[in-house]
Amino acid sequence: MFKIISNDNISENLHKMVVLAPRIARSRKPGQFVIVRLTEGEERIPLTISDADPEAGTITLFVQAAGASTRNIVSTEAGGSIRDVAGPLGNPSRIIFWGRVICVGGGVGTAVLLPLARALREAGNDVTTIIGARSSRHIILSDELKRISNALIVTTEDGSLGTKGFVTTPLANLLADPEHVPQAVFAVGPVPMMKAIAEMTRIKAIETIASLNPIMIDGTGMCGGCRVMIGEEIRFACVDGPEFNAHLVDFDGLSDRMSSYRAEETLNFKAAECKIGLTTKPCVKS
Ligand code: NAD
Ligand code: FES
Repeated sequence: MFKIISNDNISENLHKMVVLAPRIARSRKPGQFVIVRLTEGEERIPLTISDADPEAGTITLFVQAAGASTRNIVSTEAGGSIRDVAGPLGNPSRIIFWGRVICVGGGVGTAVLLPLARALREAGNDVTTIIGARSSRHIILSDELKRISNALIVTTEDGSLGTKGFVTTPLANLLADPEHVPQAVFAVGPVPMMKAIAEMTRIKAIETIASLNPIMIDGTGMCGGCRVMIGEEIRFACVDGPEFNAHLVDFDGLSDRMSSYRAEETLNFKAAECKIGLTTKPCVKS
């Protein structure tokens, strides 16, 4: 059992959870993730380790209530516990000195970007971070990212904070400015965002790394659930990733696989919200 030390709702459906997991806190590296299971029989959920405190023995996870299992996790209060936290899994981010880098985080993907941007800065890189969300209410971690980045640009689709539009708007401006052209771009967020960024940097031959979060089940390379096409090769995000050369990722295939269970997920999500009285919509008995 892994004790939940704190559980804060930081934006709509998004929780920051600090969990006691001393062995993982000591050994994890930026880019790695855990697979959590709230109770026996529940779905396994991959979550990037956003931060860790080896002395306190804690890890920080950002959990978006996007399905029934994640809704059940975020509904577990501080003092409660998670049955399984397996990890650290996946390969650590390749942190080197590139020179100038741009880190782009879309929506909840910003939580995954935080440890990556921090490690890149600590490696001496000049880090420009761009984060974007639907509105100011959905912007997360801007204070933390401002502290660790040389420059932070915020975008919102409704213009309620920062530049109006997608993250790709300021990115296009930076890529067009010879003084700001980076040696590498890192993208974490929705698949259409990462695909758009890969297209923008491909024509300029700028190395681009995308962090993928496909459906995962065992996290050990055995089940095949997380397979993605990277160039001509089938790779497993849990053991070969989660970071890949964005110019080689088959984003359309990834998108299809991620939407395979959407109908079932929506039904289960509604049922979970009904069970804990979180919806005003009529609940249908199954
Ligand atoms: P969202 O759909 O609200 O988008 C957030 C921002 O991403 C937008 O404001 C925009 O700036 C950018 N964006 C989205 N589509 C774009 C496009 N076509 N072109 C350019 N920019 C675009 O995001 P959300 O609902 O907060 O995030 C949820 C998504 O993030 C899920 O799909 C989830 O799978 C993904 N996610 C990915 C990771 C990862 O490791 N890659 C981690 C967590 C979440
Ligand atoms: Fe099963 Fe990656 S989650 S192979």
